Amino acid sequence: MKITISLIKADVGSVAGHTIVPDEIKKLAEECLTRAMESGEIIDFRVFNAGDDLELLMTHKKGVDNPKIHELAWNVFSKCAERAKEMQLYGAGQDLLKDAFSGNIRGLGPGIAEMEFTKRKSEPFLVFMMDKTEPGAFNLPIFRIFADPFNTAGLVIDPSMHSGFVFEIWDILKHKRVLMRSPEELYSILALIGSKSRFVIKRVYPKTGKLPADEPVAVVSTEKLYQVAGEYVGKDDPVAIIRAQSGLPAVGEILEAFSFPHLVSGWMRGSHNGPIMPVPFRYSKCTRFDGPPRCVCAGFQLSDGKLIGPVDMFDDPAFDYARQKANEIAEYMRRHGPFEPHRLSAEEMEYTTLPKVLESLRDRFEDI
Ligand code: F6R
Ligand code: MG
Ligand code: MG
Repeated sequence: MKITISLIKADVGSVAGHTIVPDEIKKLAEECLTRAMESGEIIDFRVFNAGDDLELLMTHKKGVDNPKIHELAWNVFSKCAERAKEMQLYGAGQDLLKDAFSGNIRGLGPGIAEMEFTKRKSEPFLVFMMDKTEPGAFNLPIFRIFADPFNTAGLVIDPSMHSGFVFEIWDILKHKRVLMRSPEELYSILALIGSKSRFVIKRVYPKTGKLPADEPVAVVSTEKLYQVAGEYVGKDDPVAIIRAQSGLPAVGEILEAFSFPHLVSGWMRGSHNGPIMPVPFRYSKCTRFDGPPRCVCAGFQLSDGKLIGPVDMFDDPAFDYARQKANEIAEYMRRHGPFEPHRLSAEEMEYTTLPKVLESLRDRFEDI
């Protein structure tokens, strides 16, 4: 049986400022999706918030990029945005950049991670949702999970993973993609994905033949709001779905990649580098300097398309050290104030509101 998991997210308004989606908005989304489930449009769903982002997780049999599913998500976001406007929430309707739905939610503002695959006898998977950062924030952990033997023991000792994985990497500026094989092309993969604001891992595929080679085992949302809106409208807080176990990285190997709070861009005004902090859902709210950026993770089992879960995967003292480290790094980075490398490089600041400030100084420069 083939099943599709669709994770579609948008910032439709929040309280206080850009902090969290209030319960009332999440309830409204749940009511809409309950109706869709009862009418058979979707099999199951869960609604989450990652900070100020409303996250819709749905299972169905309609495949990826299905107009019905995308329209459903669009309608849920539109209804929630309407309510958010009535409530005068902050940034109400922020990520709904176009007025009308036209067959696919891509390019309208929301972020999308979807995958269709043949369900295994038992199908564990993890859903990651980040706030106050961008899609390239997943490059490092996804690389570690599927290509780094120091992270994933299975790459070394499980024969069904020993041959590695295939990475689908997108150039999100030039709108091109390339498939690259690990471990054969390890260094070339890193040559690209180290530039995380441009080259992002979109999908990962298996290699061994134990799983269908054309069915992804991981997928990341890569939408860029800036490219849709033509101006700065906030960071593209990304999401990812990763399947686990039986020839794939174990749940614990996947989570291990988040034990290191690596530097990501985002945080205040989408303009600063800072550590990504893995947190339980109760701490999915960015406060200090609108951050630091954070990541939540929900674990599930699929049962005939129904969702068993979520398990709040970072709700574990084993991640206290990563959180402590993240706080130390946050403090260190913050002391730089407006200086690079806390503030993003001039090149990346092109996509923020800084150019408008610099514009006003242009005529005052004299030749030297
Ligand atoms: C980051 C983010 C916030 C805002 C900041 C300013 O992704 O959403 O850090 O950029 O709070 O917001 P405005 O311009 O809406 O006052
Ligand atoms: Mg917001
Ligand atoms: Mg957000």
